Amino acid sequence: MKTKKVTTISQFISEQQMQFPDATGDLSKLFLDIIIAAKIVNRDIRKAGLVDILGTHGSINVQGEEVKKLDVIANEEYIAALSLGGDCCAILSEENEDIIRIKNPGSNKSKYIIAIDPLDGSSNIDVNASIGTIFSIYKRFSDVHDEVTMDDCLQKGENQIAAGYIIYGSSTMLVYSTGNGVNGFTLDSSIGEFCLSHPNIKIPEKGSIYSINEGNYNEFPDGVKNYISYCKENDKSTKRPYSARYIGSLIADFHRNLLRGGIFIYPPTVKSPNGKLRLMYECNPLAFIAEQAGGIASTGNERILEIIPEKLHQRVPLFTGSKEMVEQAIEMYQSNSVQSI
Ligand code: AHG
Ligand code: MN
Ligand code: MN
Repeated sequence: MKTKKVTTISQFISEQQMQFPDATGDLSKLFLDIIIAAKIVNRDIRKAGLVDILGTHGSINVQGEEVKKLDVIANEEYIAALSLGGDCCAILSEENEDIIRIKNPGSNKSKYIIAIDPLDGSSNIDVNASIGTIFSIYKRFSDVHDEVTMDDCLQKGENQIAAGYIIYGSSTMLVYSTGNGVNGFTLDSSIGEFCLSHPNIKIPEKGSIYSINEGNYNEFPDGVKNYISYCKENDKSTKRPYSARYIGSLIADFHRNLLRGGIFIYPPTVKSPNGKLRLMYECNPLAFIAEQAGGIASTGNERILEIIPEKLHQRVPLFTGSKEMVEQAIEMYQSNSVQSI
């Protein structure tokens, strides 16, 4: 029997680092901090049904202790691992209003800022459906000895040094890019290592899945309504009607479409003219991955990665996925550009 060579994520990262003789190894160390946090959060998610960590944050359990919701726990665990690791100078979290500046002595000189959505798809925690963590890494502009500024944090997505996500699904995977393609690693829990399982991921140019919360249909712009009708039409040559798939965890919907081909849309609505998803924690990292895999990510009017953020928790509409599908959706969206919202 032939033994297949296994590449762990640590081996993969150090092999990549060796290709850049000038690399300091700081980014690799930050990745190792993320991996440790991912394993800890994975452990807690996997026992979520067994211990009292499901439920609403703010309630009290039988021991009289506060019951923490898993997204609060995940946030604390990522912040702890990233600050103790000392390999970043600031953390921007979807769960925290302000910049978290890392004051550890060792991290004073770090040039990296990390933005995270520690638990994406929180409405799915209690029903045992896939959830995730999304992260994105930037280099600060200001001097490493000075305090991290808001300008250091509000960078356009094009400046990302790396981005990725962890999906806690039927298996746990880490998918990331440092701007040189996209690679996916599956956690082998028997050895506690993420192993390269999906090298050089490319999103199919076209697919047959559309993902959108159609419950909000009446609030969508006309161009989006038209695109949904297009998805439902019969046409063999374009494999229509497409299948509708929407679980309500961006990561799960995005990951499926990345591997199978498809489009994900969270459009502007009457109630939320900027959509729901957050630029810094959700759209930018996934746009980086989508483009690195050969796909597209747009607000419907502009490329996600070119937006200069005005505030940390800014929301933007998102059209992302297979190139041909997203182009088609954007064309229909724009042809009704006097949007009826
Ligand atoms: P989060 O759990 O981090 O707040 O994100 C939830 C997001 C995203 O994961 C998902 O695609 C979207 O909310 C679903 O929103 P709707 O319920 O409005 O469809
Ligand atoms: Mn989210
Ligand atoms: Mn979240």
